Amino acid sequence: MSSAPGYFVSFEGGDGVGKTTHVRLLGDWLHEVTGREVVVTREPGGTPLGLELRRLVMHGDDMDARSEALLYAADRAHHVATVVRPAIERGAVVLTDRYLDSSVAYQAGGRELSEEEVEALSLWATRDLLPDVTVLLDLDPVVGAARLSGEPDRLERAGDEFHRRTRETFLRRAAADPERWVVVDASAPLDDVQAQVRVDVAARLDLTPALVDPVDVSSLVEPVETRWRLARPADEEGRE
Ligand code: TYD
Repeated sequence: MSSAPGYFVSFEGGDGVGKTTHVRLLGDWLHEVTGREVVVTREPGGTPLGLELRRLVMHGDDMDARSEALLYAADRAHHVATVVRPAIERGAVVLTDRYLDSSVAYQAGGRELSEEEVEALSLWATRDLLPDVTVLLDLDPVVGAARLSGEPDRLERAGDEFHRRTRETFLRRAAADPERWVVVDASAPLDDVQAQVRVDVAARLDLTPALVDPVDVSSLVEPVETRWRLARPADEEGRE
């Protein structure tokens, strides 16, 4: 884990696995139990510039695989420089809906560029920022596709074989680096998936239950409020 005061957690998985819902639910819970600032963001499109890139890459003209990889990398570079890194440095917990592993899974696994090159491009774009924890919500892409509604975007239209390779790439990366990744079966009911996500993320972040102020006498008459402690003190906590 890095030594910055904050934490960085990414969510990955195919289309329709429920990442957006689970990122939001985990963010609300982490804020409630730790009192920390929690920043929930996403790629592509976590910044105003990123929203324009998102429109171009997902809904624009067809493009070759390298152009696509560069647009996602440009979005990521700007997102990290302006949102993610400043938040981690001020002690926030940053949760992102997709990060660099999506590029490796979609542009390398799916579009069949080299995994090493696509990963190196993202590491260059982000000055080597890797998440403390990456949650893979794993689901058969056929089941994920059936959960989607509305007009499919360029990536969703890429076909079953493409999405099968994408899933395989995520699973292979997770198996190769179990210290960073947790894999959660996203075919279970929503509440069960979220419960598993909380347990796994809390364990990885060394989140331990702790009383807010064990010597505060008011806690003897008021209901005892339980807070959870994160291993790394945020600036904000130091000032309290
Ligand atoms: P997402 O925001 O999950 O889509 P939606 O809002 O429709 O749920 O992801 C956008 C699409 O971009 C998704 O199909 C995956 C793809 N993608 C890549 O191909 N490479 C990347 O680096 C990223 C971040 C996303």
